[in-house]
Amino acid sequence: MPAKAACAGGGEIMIYYSPVMAEENKSSLDALSALAKRRGFIYHSSEIYGGMPGFWDYGPLGCELKQNVKAAWWQFTVRGREDVAGLDATIIMHPKIWKASGHLDTFADPMTMCKDCKKLMRADQIKDIYAEQRKKPQPKVPGSDFFCPHCGGELTEPKPFNLMFKTIVGPIDDPSNVAYLRPETAQAIFAQFLNVLATSRQAVPFGIAQMGKSFRNEVTPRNYIFRSREFEQMELEFFIRPDEAVELLHGHVVTLADNPDLNGPVQDDWGWEVWHKYWVEQRKKFLNAVGLPTERFVEYWQKPDELAHYARACVDIEYDFPFGRQELEGIAARSDFDLTQHQKHSGVPQTVFDDPLKQAAKKLDDAAKAAFIAKVQADWVARGKDALAAEKFCRDLFDGKYVPHVIEPSAGVDRLMLALLCEAYEEQTLKDEKGKDDVRTVLHFSPKVAPVKAAIFPLIKKDEAQMKFARDLFEKLRRKVNVQWDVSGAIGRRYRRQDEAGTPWCITVDAQTVEDGTFTVRERDSMAQTRMTYEQFLAMMYAALEF
Ligand code: GLY
Repeated sequence: MPAKAACAGGGEIMIYYSPVMAEENKSSLDALSALAKRRGFIYHSSEIYGGMPGFWDYGPLGCELKQNVKAAWWQFTVRGREDVAGLDATIIMHPKIWKASGHLDTFADPMTMCKDCKKLMRADQIKDIYAEQRKKPQPKVPGSDFFCPHCGGELTEPKPFNLMFKTIVGPIDDPSNVAYLRPETAQAIFAQFLNVLATSRQAVPFGIAQMGKSFRNEVTPRNYIFRSREFEQMELEFFIRPDEAVELLHGHVVTLADNPDLNGPVQDDWGWEVWHKYWVEQRKKFLNAVGLPTERFVEYWQKPDELAHYARACVDIEYDFPFGRQELEGIAARSDFDLTQHQKHSGVPQTVFDDPLKQAAKKLDDAAKAAFIAKVQADWVARGKDALAAEKFCRDLFDGKYVPHVIEPSAGVDRLMLALLCEAYEEQTLKDEKGKDDVRTVLHFSPKVAPVKAAIFPLIKKDEAQMKFARDLFEKLRRKVNVQWDVSGAIGRRYRRQDEAGTPWCITVDAQTVEDGTFTVRERDSMAQTRMTYEQFLAMMYAALEF
């Protein structure tokens, strides 16, 4: 389907490509990472010293993309809602937090080493390494079915390797001063739950969101920025009433079987599984809004035997990266596990007081309360829990007290950036006016995350009036959004530079601009050009940037 692009000052050409060809042209990671390096999106950390495996830096365009992804998440998750508050906690926290969360004891990968080539690897990734190789080395130990995928040598017994980075706080290098760089942002939210509750005028159900750096000492960091040792997370802990409290308040609990409307306003009588599914849908809406079409990702619902013991459900949203289908983000229903653990380890009760619940319980007579307790006990015992604990839990509910349950949507900034780059990248084969093939590399970013929103080109550098108008326009726009100024080379070459950066709009100031104030706006994907006034451009741009 050829599309013709009009010209302002020449350079634009006829485009011939079909959806099939576009699909074929989807990036390999090599082509993408070459562009990302060349155009200043992503560099190896400490490159002049040979780099550091698992550490990456974002250059001028990369850090703009990252800021936009984070700003979009914050807008969508925090500012755009009345029931979520923000938090920005420290990276190093009291080490007991990691004891309570389970990270000290269980946050480990099985590590093995080849006795011959000395390569370290995750034992659970060996089959993936085999799959990536065309020729599998033969085992050097005949009959062995657990051998090095690199050289065929003998492997050591896998040993758990804790992924947390250790550090020392203060001047004395003593075990009592050991602390950890956080391996997730989530735990700070639990540790500050009571403070946020007391100071934010929120009540359950409500959420606390945090974005920031996390660190995991991966045995084998791999797949570019997908799995790094230093990375950034965007996590929300959304606190909800236990289903038993919802039952007591409303006399019923809405489940998925009731077919609730997940696109409308949230409802007070939703049970945990509705809240969980609601957040899965919200996350998909967000991914859509920043430029991932729904058909490009899949929901993977973890099977009961894959769930952590405290989790009631967990959904991974997976994306087809060039290296295979991998988790983009997870949405877990974590029961009251986290706050209960912190209550146990800190000795500080993590219960909330829920007055409407207490008022509802007051209306029940003794027989109704006994019937309620019996029902909860039967349910808890069927789930392998203790009947006496169930009774205490019910009596606390009658007083309006409980430890909230939580739904956790957890996303990685870097892997979302990688997905957006993969999705945006395209090499289009075009034909110029003489019929010659020309390849245009373009990043089809959504304007919401595009690092540069517009580029300003005066058509003729030597024309003072054009230069003055263009410069004034640039100065006005840069106070609002990130824009670039480019006077070098033919217009066609300037367009190409911006296509590679993913800039949605290129503005060319020409002779007519000086006469009537209108300029041409060339749209990146269609390459179509439209004359507009400044006000028309602002209206179009803001409409595209809004969530
Ligand atoms: N908080 C979940 C995670 O870091 O994966």
